[in-house]
Amino acid sequence: MIRRYVYGKVMETEAIMEKPQCQEGTIPYFTVDEEKMSFSFSMEESDRVYGLGENVRGINKRGWIYESKCSDDPNHLEDRRSLYGAHNFIVVDGKVQFGVFVDYPGILTFDVGYTRHSELKITASDWNLDVYVIEGEDVKDIVKQFRGLIGRSYIAPLWAFGYGQSRWSYMTADEVRDVVKKHRELGIPLDSVYLDIDYMERYKDFTLNDETFPDFAEFNKEMKEQNIHLVPIIDAGVKQEEGYPVYEEGLEKGYFCKKEDGTPFVAAVWPGKALFPDMLNKEARDWFGDQYKFLLDQGVEGFWNDMNEPAIFYTEDRLKDVLEKLDTFKGKNLDLNRFWEFTGLVSGLSNNVEDYKMFYHNINGEKVRHDRVHNLFGYNMTRAAGEAFERLEPDKRILMFSRSSYVGMHRYGGIWQGDNKSWWSHILLNLKMMPSLNMCGFIYTGADLGGFGSDTTEDLVLRWLALGIFTPLMRNHSAMGTRVQEVYRFENMDGFRHIIGLRYRFLPYLYSEYMKAVLRDEMMFRPLAFDYPQDSHAVNVEDQLLLGDGLMIAPVYEQNAEGRYVYLPEKMKMVRFKVDGTTEEEILEAGHHYVNISLTDVVVFVRPNHLIPMSSGGQCVEDVDFENLQYISYIDNGEAVYEYYHDNGYEKDYENPEHIRVIRM
Ligand code: GLC
Repeated sequence: MIRRYVYGKVMETEAIMEKPQCQEGTIPYFTVDEEKMSFSFSMEESDRVYGLGENVRGINKRGWIYESKCSDDPNHLEDRRSLYGAHNFIVVDGKVQFGVFVDYPGILTFDVGYTRHSELKITASDWNLDVYVIEGEDVKDIVKQFRGLIGRSYIAPLWAFGYGQSRWSYMTADEVRDVVKKHRELGIPLDSVYLDIDYMERYKDFTLNDETFPDFAEFNKEMKEQNIHLVPIIDAGVKQEEGYPVYEEGLEKGYFCKKEDGTPFVAAVWPGKALFPDMLNKEARDWFGDQYKFLLDQGVEGFWNDMNEPAIFYTEDRLKDVLEKLDTFKGKNLDLNRFWEFTGLVSGLSNNVEDYKMFYHNINGEKVRHDRVHNLFGYNMTRAAGEAFERLEPDKRILMFSRSSYVGMHRYGGIWQGDNKSWWSHILLNLKMMPSLNMCGFIYTGADLGGFGSDTTEDLVLRWLALGIFTPLMRNHSAMGTRVQEVYRFENMDGFRHIIGLRYRFLPYLYSEYMKAVLRDEMMFRPLAFDYPQDSHAVNVEDQLLLGDGLMIAPVYEQNAEGRYVYLPEKMKMVRFKVDGTTEEEILEAGHHYVNISLTDVVVFVRPNHLIPMSSGGQCVEDVDFENLQYISYIDNGEAVYEYYHDNGYEKDYENPEHIRVIRM
């Protein structure tokens, strides 16, 4: 059951597809304090709280304070309160069970037992909220109802389930050719290479550097002949430069965000001074979406949208002010306070909260200050693209994922988990975000495998890939200046070939589970707590996940570990895929086990009476045979049944019943 409560004058976000009637009377479970603009729920000791999509810390969010505030912050540390997305949905699971979604585009705080252990408090920065309370049979049912409310998740093309190689600093087409050649020569499967900002002419959206990437359409064709998709990045800021058509046209038509006085708001990002298209204005959004045509026409079939919180390096006005203030430090002996003031001035140049109050959107003729709708910007940039793809390429599935997001954006694209680091703890963070994101409709997702910032190590890449082979988006991406981490830079080629190769063997299952999760509003990745709520050990497991119908995964996320403890909520079959191509199977009883997992082993657990369809692999998705399947199964006195979904991966007749086949063993 879904109940809706409206407070004040609600700002339209279009997160919800069909809004139920609002309820009279008071909201259940919460005490409302209008003056403090907050809702409080009194938690029992054993209550667990799930959700919040992309954020730091645990699957169970209890014990910390989170903020919905889309932020460009590359330090995904425990002391952060927000990352790039704003996903205001939580489920309380305990004596009572309910979900709550606060549809509100400004900054919102979820204090989940941080200030007071037993209090869950949601505080808004403005009393204009649309709140949904959802009750159901269990947590999964509550999530399913929520997903029904927000509409079907984006569906990626099948090729986008292949392995992708990316790095910020592929400077020329020849460098990209080399990346492809090395993978092919070594027999490491590959389906896509991502183009970061360097493919553009001086970081200008919808341009190409004709010297370093000459004859792009031809190059794209050459890559496609090798079954490689090129996936260019698009940034939110449009360079301010006379003679650059996107800038000039946007300016002339008044499509950029403006300051209070009506002049364009100028902020610096990669290209230096840039303007932000008013993604919240329908006309501007349509216009921005149409720009993707430039690359679609050259055969591009996938994009990633970046810097769309939007990230701001500095604004013209603030830089001027800071430079003047810095002058006063010249020749001074700086004591502690003055020194901090000095460093604070410089670090406060970027993503400054005050700058988000300096510009305005034109939403259906109403002038709205950006901070009131901050969390909708990245969502609407991706919506601009998604809606344009429907107009420009109605018969094709185009790959799209974004950095910033809000619930609602899940209908137009996936997300990647942003600028993580080559840290062991970030393997675990990657895992923990999967179910929280699935709860909020983001199914096509994954993290920068191997880590984006900091120098990586070979063992970290191997271990991270052993998780990444299961996430819908499987991309190795790293930052300019860090240690190179394409797998061919390392020694253990057999290991990499084996692990990445397994991704292609698991594809029939992974794609089938992905499609079923999307079409049925279910979660592809679930914490054990969702399927085994009565099991007092299972409910606390934070480093294993159920993957679809029949699998459990438990990756290694510690350096030098030879294995790990795994908790089995019931008897399962452990299957070990070894680097020499052999497979070992063992039935393990319910309970705690220490499992040895070498650097090149991939270990999965199959639930009783379940089947996992697999292929014989391939060098790219195109090679994979989705018809002649092999199975790993665990049949424990009964019959195993699997509903296998498969379509051709390119067309859009998703609901056609012919795509589903029931397999019995
Ligand atoms: C941002 C993105 C990252 C990209 C970089 C350069 O930091 O998150 O993925 O490589 O910008 O474009």
